[in-house]
Amino acid sequence: MKKKNFIFKGGTSGFGLNLLKKFVNNGFFVHVIAKDNIKINHLSDYFHKRDLKSFNFYQADLAEANELSKSILQLKNLNTIDVLINNAGALFLKKELNSKGLEKTFVVNYLSHFFLTVSLIDLIRKTRNSRILNISSWVHELAKLNLNDINFSERYNGVVAYNNSKLMNILFSYKINRVYANSINNYAIHPGWINTNFGNYNQSAPRILVKIARFLFAKKPSNVANEIYSLCTNEKYLNFSGKYFEKHQVAKSSNKSYREDLQDELWRKSLNFLKIG
Ligand SMILES: NC(=O)c1ccc[n+]([C@@H]2O[C@H](COP(=O)([O-])OP(=O)(O)OC[C@H]3O[C@@H](n4cnc5c(N)ncnc54)[C@H](OP(=O)(O)O)[C@@H]3O)[C@@H](O)[C@H]2O)c1
Repeated sequence: MKKKNFIFKGGTSGFGLNLLKKFVNNGFFVHVIAKDNIKINHLSDYFHKRDLKSFNFYQADLAEANELSKSILQLKNLNTIDVLINNAGALFLKKELNSKGLEKTFVVNYLSHFFLTVSLIDLIRKTRNSRILNISSWVHELAKLNLNDINFSERYNGVVAYNNSKLMNILFSYKINRVYANSINNYAIHPGWINTNFGNYNQSAPRILVKIARFLFAKKPSNVANEIYSLCTNEKYLNFSGKYFEKHQVAKSSNKSYREDLQDELWRKSLNFLKIG
């Protein structure tokens, strides 16, 4: 039987790493877009040593659309796309711009997901029971989104930029549902607070305290991976397409996220940023 194709961003660390191993172990063909060549080589060795071959890595920094474009060109050759998981995310406490002058939280956490999804949408649509998962966060409720000033021209705040990007993930997810509900199953997800290294690369974060709190109180990455795995594979979730999940339960997202005018504006502006519409 032909293997199902899973496309996955953010599979080289955090709960994504547990999820990636689970997919490959369970016989799916996983296409992983990842930026770090050392991690890519390490994981390739890990799978080869176990005689597991159903994976492909595509090296790309998601902050740069031209790097992602190369992966997209290759992925367009697939016959089907059964699941697309937009999981990669980062926190930039200090403002960083990509080579096109766009703020990186916006690009990595949202625009790259939009770009990949829209570029592959025809393939996803023609695959029976296909699913798209957008990994968001409950912090979208704290967003202060200004679509006229994506780059924070006045004063940058990394946490607000992160919260905004997580709202964009949900606005995007709901828009996909409005347009493609008949042909694609799609979910926006807050995975819970997880014991990963997320945000630890930011020097100003009180790293030790965060690490201890995470160890004591946060969810295990392997448990989150199991939950997301079931959203990707279990038939029962086909009845919940278009929903927002918090801690593996259908939940209500912020009032703003349901605003169709915002969903439409974000979609239009995203096409404009990428100059593909
Ligand atoms: N941890 C939490 O408590 C929590 C809570 C709510 C939502 N989330 C969301 O869950 C998702 C996964 O988070 P996590 O906790 O597993 O964090 P993580 O361990 O930091 O994983 C993030 C993943 O995104 C990838 N990534 C980041 N920037 C990238 C770039 N420029 N190009 C390509 N890949 C890039 C990372 O690649 P590298 O391995 O190369 O760094 C890594 O695979 C994120 O979207 C996050 O916002 C996390």
